[in-house]
Amino acid sequence: MPYTIEQVKALVREYPDFPSKGILFRDIFPIFREPEAVECLVEHFVDRIKALGQRVDVVVGLDARGFLFGPLIAIKLGVAFAPVRKRGKLPGEVVSVTYLKEYGPDVFEMQADALEAGHNVVIIDDLLATGGSCKAAEELVCQLKGHVVLNAFVISLVGLEGDKQLKAPVYALIEC
Ligand code: PRP
Ligand code: HPA
Repeated sequence: MPYTIEQVKALVREYPDFPSKGILFRDIFPIFREPEAVECLVEHFVDRIKALGQRVDVVVGLDARGFLFGPLIAIKLGVAFAPVRKRGKLPGEVVSVTYLKEYGPDVFEMQADALEAGHNVVIIDDLLATGGSCKAAEELVCQLKGHVVLNAFVISLVGLEGDKQLKAPVYALIEC
C-alpha cells in the first residue's frame, strides 16, 4: 500500500530515557521496515531538492544514519553520493574537521576526491540536534571548495537551535 508522508512521519518512534536518563530518543528505523514508506520518504526529499531549482552534483550523507537514505536520494536525482565518516574509516587522501559531541571532541572525514571545486552539495542526516555534526560536514565541503545548497533532515529538535550553527538553509520533515 502506498504511504503518505504523514503516515511516514507517524512511523518515527520515541523512546524515553535512551541512551541515557532524560533523553527522548527518536528512532527512524521503523520506517525501514516498510519499503513503501522508504519510497515515499525518498520521493519527498527528492521533490524538496528539485524545488530548490539549483543544480545538485553530490549528495553527502553523515555517518551513520545519513547512509540509510542519502544514497537512495542520490540515485533518484541521478547524482553522486559521498560519505562523511568518523575518523580512520576512509582510505586515501582525506580532509578532516574536529567537532564537539556530547562527551568530547570527535573527528569527521571526507575523501579529498569526493567532490570537485564548485560542486553543489545537499547534506543528508536523520536528525539535527545541536548542529555540531552538520556544521562539521559543511566545513568539510567548504575545504573541498564545494557549496552546500541544502541541509536536509528527517527530524529537527528545534529547541536546540542547531540551524543557527549552519550556513546553508535547513529542511526537516519533522520539527519537534
Ligand atoms: C546523531 C545523529 C546526528 C547527530 C546529531 O548521530 O544521527 O548525526 O547525532 O547531533 P548534533 O546535531 O548535536 O551534532 P551520532 O553522532 O550519535 O552518531 P551515530 O549516527 O553513529 O549514532
Ligand atoms: N535520535 C537519533 N539521534 C540522536 C537523537 C535522537 O533522538 N538525539 C541526538 N542524536
